[in-house]
Amino acid sequence: MTAERTILLVGGTGRTGGRVLQQLLGRGVNVRAIVRSAGRLPAGVAENPLLTVIEADLLSLAADDLQRYVRGCDAVISCLGHVLTVRGILGPPRDLVTRATMRLCRAIEAEQPVSPVRFILMGSVSVNRPDRPEPRRGSIERAALVLLRGLVPPAKDNQRAADFLCREIGEDNPFVQWAVVRPDTLIDGDVSEYVLHDQLVSSLAKPDNTAMANVAHFMCELALEQQAWDSWKSQLPVIVNAG
Ligand SMILES: NC(=O)c1ccc[n+]([C@@H]2O[C@H](COP(=O)([O-])OP(=O)(O)OC[C@H]3O[C@@H](n4cnc5c(N)ncnc54)[C@H](OP(=O)(O)O)[C@@H]3O)[C@@H](O)[C@H]2O)c1
Repeated sequence: MTAERTILLVGGTGRTGGRVLQQLLGRGVNVRAIVRSAGRLPAGVAENPLLTVIEADLLSLAADDLQRYVRGCDAVISCLGHVLTVRGILGPPRDLVTRATMRLCRAIEAEQPVSPVRFILMGSVSVNRPDRPEPRRGSIERAALVLLRGLVPPAKDNQRAADFLCREIGEDNPFVQWAVVRPDTLIDGDVSEYVLHDQLVSSLAKPDNTAMANVAHFMCELALEQQAWDSWKSQLPVIVNAG
């Protein structure tokens, strides 16, 4: 069923993105991966005939080229994140996730696909739903997050990318549908049972764990399975390990 699907993946050299890539290929899906360096892809994937690697700087690719790369894709998955070094966190591009999200969505819109393309963004539990209150988040935590977003560019960036999808792409866009996956603290481990929530369940002070393999699994399900997509499109599901 998934053999004829094509998915564009960005962030495929990262910890979670690499797992998404391996799982998509394992499910027989055609993957186009835009990466800065093919040398950082997970071992053994480069020779896979289902994989097309585009070595390019996503943020400076010409709009025409980006439009060509989204052409014919059923879904776009973004696992981009700021590299966890001082330069990665504080240096440019501070708006990596937002700018990539905007560019990819605009490229899809310019392409005017017959059926909407699914845009699946990896966010975090630090991201708020912009159009709805998060009852679990108290005033102290909200204040802490405002401070965090002021001081730590990636926190602001992840929020702005989600804001863009909620507010500017919206729920009725004929070309792009979206979901923002919000894991808690990322941990290693194989795919295991996980739980999905339509709002936050833990506080930032008392976090849950989320295996990166489970995030990858859920992102693949969203991209490939109609039922998963119908349940979670236009939402910001929180994913945590079961138990
Ligand atoms: N750490 C946590 O506990 C946690 C928890 C929840 C959510 N998150 C969020 O989840 C997302 C992914 O996390 P992760 O730990 O899997 O990410 P990661 O391993 O740090 O991977 C980041 C990816 O983004 C790419 N990237 C970074 N800077 C780039 C740039 N300037 N241009 C193009 N690509 C760039 C990296 O490419 P290169 O290989 O070329 O560097 C890599 O593929 C992030 O948004 C993070 O905020 C993290």
